[in-house]
Amino acid sequence: MNNYNDYVKHSKKITDVNMSMAVLGWDQETKMPKNGSRFRAQQLSTLAEISHELSTNKEYGNLLNNLNSDDSLNSDQRRNISLSLKAFNKSKKYKSEFIIEESKLVSNAFQKWRLAKEKNDFSIFESSLTKLVDLRIKECEILGYENHPYDALLNQYEPGLTTNDVDKIFSNVKEFLVPFIKRISKSNKINDSFYYQKYSHNKQWDFGIELLKKMEYNFDSGRQDLSAHPFSTHFSPEDTRVTTRVDEDNLSEMIWSCIHEGGHALYEQGILSENYGLPLGETISLGIHESQSRLWENNVGRSLEFWKYNYESLKSIFPNQLSDVTVDDFYKAANNVKPSLIRTNADELTYHLHVLIRYEIEKALIEGKIMVKDLPEIWNLKYNEYLGVEVPSDALGVLQDIHWSHGNFGYFPTYTIGSFYAAQFFNQAKIENPNLLKEIEDGNNKNLLNWLRKNIHNNGKRLDADKLCEKISGEKLNFKYFKEYVIEKYSKIYSL
Ligand code: CO
Repeated sequence: MNNYNDYVKHSKKITDVNMSMAVLGWDQETKMPKNGSRFRAQQLSTLAEISHELSTNKEYGNLLNNLNSDDSLNSDQRRNISLSLKAFNKSKKYKSEFIIEESKLVSNAFQKWRLAKEKNDFSIFESSLTKLVDLRIKECEILGYENHPYDALLNQYEPGLTTNDVDKIFSNVKEFLVPFIKRISKSNKINDSFYYQKYSHNKQWDFGIELLKKMEYNFDSGRQDLSAHPFSTHFSPEDTRVTTRVDEDNLSEMIWSCIHEGGHALYEQGILSENYGLPLGETISLGIHESQSRLWENNVGRSLEFWKYNYESLKSIFPNQLSDVTVDDFYKAANNVKPSLIRTNADELTYHLHVLIRYEIEKALIEGKIMVKDLPEIWNLKYNEYLGVEVPSDALGVLQDIHWSHGNFGYFPTYTIGSFYAAQFFNQAKIENPNLLKEIEDGNNKNLLNWLRKNIHNNGKRLDADKLCEKISGEKLNFKYFKEYVIEKYSKIYSL
């Protein structure tokens, strides 16, 4: 291996292995029969080992180091080399004992968490979670950080984001959103009861497919299936899949999870195929990924314009359920703000308080300021303080999310910054295309998608998240865009 083409070949090989793991992972969540799980775990772990070997191969490291000082490369090539070298150096930091210990702890913790949630008994999960937190504290030291150990964890998902940045973001959230939500809760109530009638599974499914088509999701390069928890995954820009969940007693569940995952998938479909297997053929970060799903879910999918176009078709599918419901009623109900227990069912405002609580807890755990055994009590206190709700059980409280059982710490804040990026990007798209809302009202989302393609998707990892944001909007991530969007939208809905 001695030149750029050798690098490209090797990098693609690593991607081929990783994408094959993704196919097996997708199958596991959607189609695999129960008895498939034993050997599937083995197959995935073999591929993970091969991927790790390829990613830390000594010759590959030498090649990357040589190419990193090669002046004859163009800027895209240099960008690929620099990002691959960074990933290589990071992989090298992990000893195989750490990887093995991590995989054992996670698989154990996941089983314990499932059981604990089922039995509503946190103590079943406590010791596994304690071990996982200790492992992450160790990992922060392995990876290194400048100011705060939690930075090392954040960086896994959102390169460049620091604990200091997140503290600032959440102080804005607290200062603005907490009193704003209080004002809403004192104003008139919105009726959303019509969501909770019987809506047949098959008709909902068909409508979801229709929504994805309206968003310009390409079914020749993707498909939708059912899964217990909706997700999107990709094997290349030409095969990018989504899943959804249909609840016959709650129409909103399918609609917005479908649009959300569709937004993620559109990002992957917009990556340039010519960059497959290289960093420029990858998405930037979880925060930017989430900005794409949230932009479609909230800024588009919960707008009056979107429903002025799509509501007639929904109503024709469910004439009995929606005969007395106007498009305005439907829109308002889609934006009903109501503090609740479960993050994934939260509205787009209280959602960030759910994330804030998890962030405060994770940070304190990594700092060693709180103990895992005290989590249920801390959780319940915080839910009372920020959302004003009483948590009736740990299953509906501290045990609700899967992330900690997978050992994912540093992940939650990307949900919130994704929403804030979405507001900033959508605002810019409207400035550059003053007709945008009118187009959405006419059922035409092509220009919006083209704008996202050109400014975000097609670039892959060419820029870091903050640089991309600056290039698009002229400034770094700024909370004011989300704040303005919220004030404008909800003042009208709630006549504040
Ligand atoms: Co998402």
